[in-house]
Amino acid sequence: MTEGLELVFSGAQDPRFWRDGAISTTAVMLIVLVVLTIDSLDVIRAGGANVPAYTVINQQIGYQLDADGHTWVPTIGDEQLLFGHKYEAAEAEKAMDKAKLVIQSRNCINCHTFFGNGAYYGPDLTKSWLDPVWEKTWMPMTQSKTREDAMVKFLMHPDRYPTWGRQMPNLGLDEEEARDVVAYLKWMSSIQTNGFPAGFGHMHVQR
Ligand code: HEC
Repeated sequence: MTEGLELVFSGAQDPRFWRDGAISTTAVMLIVLVVLTIDSLDVIRAGGANVPAYTVINQQIGYQLDADGHTWVPTIGDEQLLFGHKYEAAEAEKAMDKAKLVIQSRNCINCHTFFGNGAYYGPDLTKSWLDPVWEKTWMPMTQSKTREDAMVKFLMHPDRYPTWGRQMPNLGLDEEEARDVVAYLKWMSSIQTNGFPAGFGHMHVQR
């Protein structure tokens, strides 16, 4: 017992013991980091375990309480085309890439949050596609027959369609840019966010 301890202590006095220990620990943790990164990407990328593929925009997205009645979860239903058009995978991805550039170039997060990131002047946009305000207010206001048409009109001319609350300025989006943003908002609403933003379902969505 004592001999064994002495051996460990004498080993600990050798600088090589610490150097080899540091190198092997770093190497093992690097491997763990790579494995965890690959695993996370598999879960969070579009088409991964937790995030629907971009082509989900060809389907109906709903929002309902889960079986336990605790959390609001998105539901993916039958085909419900966006702008009456079926997006192929590559086309949907292109629309998302362009929408992200529009969102960055106009600095939407200066006023809005996406998944909670950004500013709180305007509403969080994570579930905006599911917001009944489109049917209730902006469809009649913009004289549109579909939610997506109302969204495009609003995004192109928010100054023309003000509600009772704060106003969004006109950010000069052309029609194609607005359509891509609507596609992005539809896709985003299909992501399981564990009920985020809190209270959205209770406040707006009928059970
Ligand atoms: C200067 C602040 C500001 C900026 C920048 C801004 N918005 Fe807004 N946005 C608002 C406000 C305020 C509202 C609420 C308008 C209302 O309810 O009448 C709003 C409303 C919206 C809505 C409706 C949300 C809902 O469900 O009620 C959408 C969608 C939206 N904005 C998208 C965008 C996008 C996309 C961008 C960037 C291209 C953007 N906004 C940039 C202030 C802003």
